[in-house]
Amino acid sequence: MSLSVKHLLGIKELQPQDIELIFRTADTFKQVLQRQIKKVPALRDTTIANVFFENSTRTRISFELAQKRLSADTINFAASSSSVSKGETLIDTVNNILAMKVDMVVMRHSASGAPWFLANHIDASIINAGDGTNEHPTQALLDAFSIRERLGEVKGKRVAIIGDIMHSRVALSNIYCLNKLGAEVMVAGPPTLIPKHIQDLGVKVEYDVKKALEWADVANVLRIQLERQHKPLFSTLREYALYYGINKSMLDSLNKEMVIMHPGPINRGVEINSDVADSKQSIILDQVENGVAIRMAVIYLLSGKGEIVE
Ligand code: CP
Repeated sequence: MSLSVKHLLGIKELQPQDIELIFRTADTFKQVLQRQIKKVPALRDTTIANVFFENSTRTRISFELAQKRLSADTINFAASSSSVSKGETLIDTVNNILAMKVDMVVMRHSASGAPWFLANHIDASIINAGDGTNEHPTQALLDAFSIRERLGEVKGKRVAIIGDIMHSRVALSNIYCLNKLGAEVMVAGPPTLIPKHIQDLGVKVEYDVKKALEWADVANVLRIQLERQHKPLFSTLREYALYYGINKSMLDSLNKEMVIMHPGPINRGVEINSDVADSKQSIILDQVENGVAIRMAVIYLLSGKGEIVE
């Protein structure tokens, strides 16, 4: 009942057995979340800080809910309304939070590597809730867990990650996670949004989205991350939608019922149309639901409490 790591910084550092343990633990917590009382007393003595230096809807709420379902005390820190704007450093900010007897830190930061830097300077366990363009480990875990739930297993499944691969931490964590679980992975999108040499990570590359859909059992569609693009990498959003956006007629032309995923936030009418995002094939809201059980599992396992007290 223990992970091989003290922190969850990235999927890269996890062993396949760690991911399987997180999934089995999340299975138990998913059952808890179906009950009338959706709560266990497991972390009554634990305080967790959610330290967000970047905007979030799903990840922040999901972590906070997971902590509350585990009976932990939670505090939420948003950099925009904090003393960071007065020049306080990351380490001073976190050490001040830890001085108030906080046991675990969940952190999102726009700088790639920020959680690793912090892990070298503090004793508490850190969970990376997304760092720059690097990793978003709990998103990849909930994505793979959702594929396992829908298709029975991840091993041997063909997963196409479609869109802005270059600026996506979700893409990188998904590649690591799916490879460790034995899936086949393809990245697809415009050449300017796919990093050179990405094949070295053990993925196929396809620039024709229709061909990627023909190949795949699952399409994980990503938004264009304009906030991370400092020069134009494609002409217009309208043209992107025309050549790379996923629409219903594309799916109807395939002779199969493939699974559609998206980590959110969705830009409807750009990378995905509403008739696909809201279709029966879409498991987008299942991903969100599963995020709570996955985050409960990660927090619980990192707390080192042993057997789950239900
Ligand atoms: N998927 C995801 O990370 O969404 P948020 O940015 O809303 O947390």
